[in-house]
Amino acid sequence: MNRLQNKTSVITGAATGIGKATVELFAKEGATVLCADINTEEMEKTANELNKNGGNVKSYHVDVSDEESVTNFANQVKEEFGTIDVLFNNAGTDQEGGKVHEYPVELFDKIIAVDLRGTFLSSKYLIPLMLDNGGSIINTSSMSGRAADLDRSGYNAAKGGITNFTKAMAIDYARQGIRVNSLSPGTIETPLIDKLAGSKDEEMGHKFRDANKWITPLGRLGRPDEMAKVALFLASDDSSYVTGEDITADGGIMAYTWPGKMLIDNEWKEDTE
Ligand code: NAI
Repeated sequence: MNRLQNKTSVITGAATGIGKATVELFAKEGATVLCADINTEEMEKTANELNKNGGNVKSYHVDVSDEESVTNFANQVKEEFGTIDVLFNNAGTDQEGGKVHEYPVELFDKIIAVDLRGTFLSSKYLIPLMLDNGGSIINTSSMSGRAADLDRSGYNAAKGGITNFTKAMAIDYARQGIRVNSLSPGTIETPLIDKLAGSKDEEMGHKFRDANKWITPLGRLGRPDEMAKVALFLASDDSSYVTGEDITADGGIMAYTWPGKMLIDNEWKEDTE
């Protein structure tokens, strides 16, 4: 408890999934939480609920891919709070687009704009609010930033970019006392997975989840609150000597070389949750 007492945190992509779970955890840990997302309705629901129970949570309509929207937000935060201590660049989008020669240019541009450019813009305009006192920045990358997926080259490019952009920021701001790390989730049960693969009730969504369980050593998909706990570690002083690091939280997927074995081993399949 209170690991973020007196800390002002900005969380982008705060409305649903990993962002929402992190808003809840950071508020519980005593932070003032400034939520930024295009989905105002969901953000406000969460903020109202937390504020009823003593939280200090505000929501702002921000499109992280739009420079003007981000600068307006940064100006507003500066006016209202002066400085911030934590920035969680978590907003993201993903969609299959086919092979590179088929991949729609608009989709590639959109994913790069939200995931990679959005991380850059939010950092560029909010870092000035951290320069005096230092702080911690966490960028949500992905295991898809460390290896590649079928038909998702735009996402792979964006997330690979975020992982290395994180290291660049860590070096740029180390002497200002700003630590910068990335969090690379595996497959986490959030609305993004519903959009990408179908919901649990749809046949494809069901198959996708089963296959993911089989190839995940821990035998299940991850939960948003499990990602929030990693973000809390990186945001708090518990990680005071960690910077420029990419923390993968994927149930072990990236730890092995031959997922084929998992798909043909019945005992392994039966051991999933
Ligand atoms: P989600 O769809 O629940 O959350 C994404 C959030 O970003 C939503 O609230 C959405 O409204 C917001 N958003 C989208 N475009 C935006 C924009 N232009 N400006 C501001 N906000 C915007 O999905 P999830 O899974 O919680 O995603 C959070 C992050 O985690 C994303 O960066 C995603 O790429 C990453 N991730 C998710 C994985 C998963 O398996 N769910 C795996 C690896 C990474």
